[in-house]
Amino acid sequence: MTTLPGLMAGVSVSFLQMLHNPGTLGRNCRVTHISCSKQAASDVQDIGISQEQPEDSKHVVEAQTMRNERGVKFLVGSSFYREESAVGRDLACLAGAVYKKEKGRLHVLDALSGSGIRAARYLAHCEADFVWANDACDGLDTLIAHNLSLASASVASKSDVAEPPSQELESFFSPNVKDESGRWQVTIQDANKVLLDCYMRKNYFDLIDVDSFGSDSVFLGSALSAVSYGGLLYATSTDGFSSGGHRPYNALASYGAYIRPMVYSNEIGLRMLIGGVVREAALRNMHVYPVFSHYSFHGPVFRVMLRVLPSRVFQTKDYNFIAVCNNCGETQVIKWSALGHSSCSCSSSSTVSSLTVNGPLWTGPLHNIDDVKKMTEMAKSWGWTEGDREPGEDRRRSPPVSTKDRNLKKLLDIMLEESNPDLQVGYIELDEISTRSKVSTPRRDNLIAALHQEGYAASRSHVESNAIKTNCSLGKCVEISQLMARQTPVPT
Ligand SMILES: C[S@@+](CC[C@H](N)C(=O)[O-])C[C@H]1O[C@@H](n2cnc3c(N)ncnc32)[C@H](O)[C@@H]1O
Ligand SMILES: [Zn+2]
Repeated sequence: MTTLPGLMAGVSVSFLQMLHNPGTLGRNCRVTHISCSKQAASDVQDIGISQEQPEDSKHVVEAQTMRNERGVKFLVGSSFYREESAVGRDLACLAGAVYKKEKGRLHVLDALSGSGIRAARYLAHCEADFVWANDACDGLDTLIAHNLSLASASVASKSDVAEPPSQELESFFSPNVKDESGRWQVTIQDANKVLLDCYMRKNYFDLIDVDSFGSDSVFLGSALSAVSYGGLLYATSTDGFSSGGHRPYNALASYGAYIRPMVYSNEIGLRMLIGGVVREAALRNMHVYPVFSHYSFHGPVFRVMLRVLPSRVFQTKDYNFIAVCNNCGETQVIKWSALGHSSCSCSSSSTVSSLTVNGPLWTGPLHNIDDVKKMTEMAKSWGWTEGDREPGEDRRRSPPVSTKDRNLKKLLDIMLEESNPDLQVGYIELDEISTRSKVSTPRRDNLIAALHQEGYAASRSHVESNAIKTNCSLGKCVEISQLMARQTPVPT
């Protein structure tokens, strides 16, 4: 007989019936950009039901399986949910909590909520004063509301209860479900409608989370319009084809950048997304810079938390083109003023360029040092920094590791190293160095130490564990690794 250990106290039969048959919620909402996803069966924890169960009963079990992220309990139902994205949610919560600590207030709009896990975590972990969870997918309102009420109850907020949304706002949006105390509300709407309505009503949010699929960048401009000055925008792209240079015109349409296949394409993905928001922001007299950037191989997923500031001028210092030489492998940043007359110093010909030029992209640091330091302190104080594995290692594990095994401390340490503004864009793979040096591959940490000794900036990369970031040229790295090989005693 099927057992349902996931069934927990506090979930009413009617709630479960609605999850089982979301059509009974009967809310029709027309949206232009929407793709709802049914949860993959493989994601469901084994709770003692055989795979031979009829589809219907599997769905009920799935709906009732209680998940847990950093102590926040929630149901997934038929919503889109990926356990692997928990690190991205950890980082967002840390940034949100730092913001709340500094500004004394945190109003969050989670525009593409799925199960509502982010919204729930912003409530529980950041002690957000108010969280608005929205998703366009019919029938998710009850699930999200259930998860938010669990999260809201699980953590006693030290802050005062937020003012409920104004009467005018309330009647306009007709929240599908809302909390009596006014700490959260749920709507089923197109994200752009919600965001642009907030802008029209000057109802600005401190943190707006836009967790969209693929390269759907259509929400970025409206999210910028609805974020408060000094506030945060958390943007996502899962389009590895565009960042890998396989859909250059798609990247151009979505992020305004022409991308061709290049080394360090996964870092390019982050720079493409940030650059796309930089341009959208400039259009609105705003400037953004990354608080942190996070690449995750699963998907792949590119996430960036951006701080949004007012700016009358388009700040292009860190918004340029990136070129890699096909002969010598060196990277250079090409400023706007140098467009059309750039070449590599290795090339004798001035007519045929050996450069692959991509952009415009973000060419500044991937993270902000001060913000990452504060996030690290917050993570320590919450006990989130245990573990001993590097971020890049999880790609070699199958099935994906669980949330609690991930090493946030190491990730934050590497991010702190990467936020050094002296580092060049991109990274150099150790194999590239050994291919050119014809000596054995240098140990990453030894090479970084040698580069520091020579006065260069150098760090690990959270995007690629078998690589270094530095402001030293590839040619000089090759020389240094050859020197290191000569100095290494040959085993007898
Ligand atoms: C990647 S999932 C969100 C996952 C969730 N944020 C999490 O961390 O688990 C994207 C969500 O966007 C929703 N969606 C797609 N198009 C939308 C639109 N135009 N407006 C609002 N939501 C939309 C989908 O229903 C889906 O739940
Ligand atoms: Zn060259």
